[in-house]
Amino acid sequence: MADTPFIIAVDGPAASGKGTVSKLLADHFGLRHLDTGLLYRAVGAAMLERNGNLDDPAASEGVAHALDLTTLDPDHLAQHHIGEAASKVAVHPPVRSALLQAQRDFASTLPGAVLDGRDIGTVVCPDAQAKLFITASLEARAGRRHAQAVRKDPSVSLDAIQADLAKRDERDAGRANAPLARADDALLLDTTNLGIDAAFEAARAFVASRMPT
Ligand code: DC
Repeated sequence: MADTPFIIAVDGPAASGKGTVSKLLADHFGLRHLDTGLLYRAVGAAMLERNGNLDDPAASEGVAHALDLTTLDPDHLAQHHIGEAASKVAVHPPVRSALLQAQRDFASTLPGAVLDGRDIGTVVCPDAQAKLFITASLEARAGRRHAQAVRKDPSVSLDAIQADLAKRDERDAGRANAPLARADDALLLDTTNLGIDAAFEAARAFVASRMPT
């Protein structure tokens, strides 16, 4: 077994397909997977539970330090309002610092890992051997989110979802600290007109080309 962890960094906006591609990559290459959005979502959820002020860096930082990473509940944290709260607490530099080491530790444990998020290739794992930036048009991403959401609530509007995503993109890409950004050496994968099989195949071929022979 290789003694250097193999790290795949996957970044991109919400509903770009990065989570699905990341899981498939992890399964295919026998690596562990961390959806780093869950960490920010857990901080946002804990702040909402205690009626905390999401704009308060110190309170959010306290919650981030107290987080138990072994008890994250992805189904609960997937809720839309928790994603919004996550995006708000994620602008605070002390929150990002509090979550940084846990992400790096996860990445550097053998045999390596796939981490997906917003700042993995730029800040968390700048030395990752393979980096991808997965994106899609706002309209395509809103359509995907809407198709999921109407299964639970048929009255939910596509326009409202699209407006929310646009706001979230702006907050995530516009913040001063570790914004959503493509690393210079990341493969750009636009999934606007790609099915999941084609997106995975493009990602798999790129990662395979970055693996030591
Ligand atoms: O990927 P997601 O929708 O679960 O992420 C929720 C929010 O968390 C996202 O809007 C911004 C923040 N986030 C971040 O700032 N950095 C990351 N690496 C992952 C997520």
